[in-house]
Amino acid sequence: MPKPHGGKLILRYQEKKADDFSDYTKIEINTNLSEDVLNIANGVFSPIEGFLSRNDLENIIVDKRLTNDTPWTIPILLDYDGKSNIKPGDRVLLVNNETGVKAILEVEEIYDYDKKKLVDAIFRTKDENHPGVSNIYSMKDKFLGGKITLIDSKTREFDEYNLTPRETRILFKEKRWREIVAFQTRNPPHIGHEYVQKTALTFVDGVFINPIIGKKKVGDFRDDVILKSYETLIQNYYLKERAVMSILRTSMKYAGPREAIHHAIIRKNFGCTHFIVGRDHAGVGTYYGPYDAHDIFNEFPDLGIVPVFFRSFSRCIKCGSVVNDKICPHDQENHINFSGKKIREILNNGKIPPEDMMRKEVAETILQFKQPFVK
Ligand code: ADX
Repeated sequence: MPKPHGGKLILRYQEKKADDFSDYTKIEINTNLSEDVLNIANGVFSPIEGFLSRNDLENIIVDKRLTNDTPWTIPILLDYDGKSNIKPGDRVLLVNNETGVKAILEVEEIYDYDKKKLVDAIFRTKDENHPGVSNIYSMKDKFLGGKITLIDSKTREFDEYNLTPRETRILFKEKRWREIVAFQTRNPPHIGHEYVQKTALTFVDGVFINPIIGKKKVGDFRDDVILKSYETLIQNYYLKERAVMSILRTSMKYAGPREAIHHAIIRKNFGCTHFIVGRDHAGVGTYYGPYDAHDIFNEFPDLGIVPVFFRSFSRCIKCGSVVNDKICPHDQENHINFSGKKIREILNNGKIPPEDMMRKEVAETILQFKQPFVK
């Protein structure tokens, strides 16, 4: 099992009750940021111990690394409106009602940063139609840097699937899995998704299916739909002793190649040895080339988790099987693509997509939901 990113698993929580901190300045953070707090506290973002300082942010933007040279590609930022009277050296309380998160922030720095420069580096575009770019543009103008310590949080929906890196590492050991391939997703499974997982699984001991649960864009599938559809798939088509599903509570950034590295680092922290990167990983629209997220891994020989690359799978009528351009000699006209857009359209009309694209049981599970999509 690989060591956590940066060498050790970060654990930043404390068992004291929040009442002890009643004289602290309180800053309300949104749910999204409170997920970041939880991910920092549980080591999902190891070796990050808090919200980024300006130097680390600058280094991530320019070099895709922290100032200590550890690979890191997506900034973890706490935006701030400048209204509370706080200064470096203060300890403030971050709170969120929905997640019950209460955390101490040791304020090290209050700074601003050119958002255009930031989005251009992270998303390779300044276009505000890009959902990740518009998220950054909508952030407040200042950032707070500093370590956090989690004091409290509450139990929530889907917690039965919410394993921390410490827990997955124990689980993989118990299962005697030595090589584990991680699969990132934000969708219910189509045949292409199943195929990349099972092809990779052929070479290792287990697959860690790790859907992102959290803020997504309008038109994406809802969290409960993703989880239920995977339950159905695993139940019917996976060996129980070869697959673990657990959720990752974080927002999608749609940053394509940079996010692929980020996703890989997170799965390394969960204890995985391999990470699947297929077609247009974490992409949106046509902002990234289909294999840009493969190429970026060349910049990180020191990542510490092995990327498993897949060319785009489709179904070839002539071959009578799932293929990609490395193994099938037939023209494109013989191929049925597993197009997420097309599958969504069919489901939106209350119909079952062809079984060449999606398992019938999975489609039926999705259609049990009145409104399967984020509105
Ligand atoms: S993502 O935003 O999480 O990347 P999605 O859930 O669709 O989106 O994809 C999960 C993983 O499966 C990604 O690594 C993606 O590249 C891969 N993938 C999706 N469809 C295919 C396909 N047809 N062929 C190969 N890989 C695919």
